[in-house]
Amino acid sequence: MDKNICMDFIKETSYLSGKEIDPPELAEEFPPLPDIISEPVILPGFDHDDSLLGVISQRRSKRNFEDKSITLVQLSKLCWGTQGETGRIGQTVLRAVASAGNRHPLNTYILVNRIEELLPGLYFYDSCKNSIGPLRLGKLGDELAEACLGQKMVETCSAVFIWTAATARTTSRYRARGYRYIFLDAGHIGAQMQLLCVDLGLGSCNIAAFLDDKVGEFLGIKHKNEIPVYITVVGWPKN
Ligand SMILES: Cc1cc2nc3c(=O)[nH]c(=O)nc-3n(C[C@H](O)[C@H](O)[C@H](O)COP(=O)(O)O)c2cc1C
Repeated sequence: MDKNICMDFIKETSYLSGKEIDPPELAEEFPPLPDIISEPVILPGFDHDDSLLGVISQRRSKRNFEDKSITLVQLSKLCWGTQGETGRIGQTVLRAVASAGNRHPLNTYILVNRIEELLPGLYFYDSCKNSIGPLRLGKLGDELAEACLGQKMVETCSAVFIWTAATARTTSRYRARGYRYIFLDAGHIGAQMQLLCVDLGLGSCNIAAFLDDKVGEFLGIKHKNEIPVYITVVGWPKN
């Protein structure tokens, strides 16, 4: 398949300013579950202790946040825990999340609303140096919240992670099928981010409802092979 078809799919399914966002639900038939051939085996219960299972049991999307900064160390852990280098095989860098063919197509932008020692603004995370560099300074939360269809948490949280895909990193190897992998890769990052947040006492919510064109403009994306894919807001959860 021509990978331009995939780009057409991305364009056709983009939320764009001025275009209808939420069409009515379709009356589509859901496939039935498969028929089992004998009585099911009930799986044993277990304690949710302090291990990863305990973290998983506490994962919940949080949308209300305290007006409080997260620390630079917490930011470092979130960046490293989602994209950081965890090993090498020869020249090949391995990272904290799995990625199809180790292509790692996702770029990490960070909107800083409230992080200790950092000026508010838009930054870019360089996973090779484990560093963040400013792209644009200022209180930009309201701008991004508008691009996220008015979702206030984008403004009230401490930091927003915005992942874009440099699609060619994956499609140059897997052609059109690479598009499947790009979104799976993004899902891994979002899931890992939410678990990291629980471990650090923070709250998070993943976001995929945003205006693709506006988020692209916000980030200053110009290349046709870079598309916004996924967003996660992070902060101190308010009960
Ligand atoms: C791909 C994806 C996109 C999502 N987009 C949004 C979003 O735009 N806004 C929002 O408030 N929540 C969003 N969520 C969070 C879901 O609404 C949430 O995961 C779901 O309601 C289940 O709640 P839980 O995460 O607490 O288990 C998204 C979650 C996923 C996985």
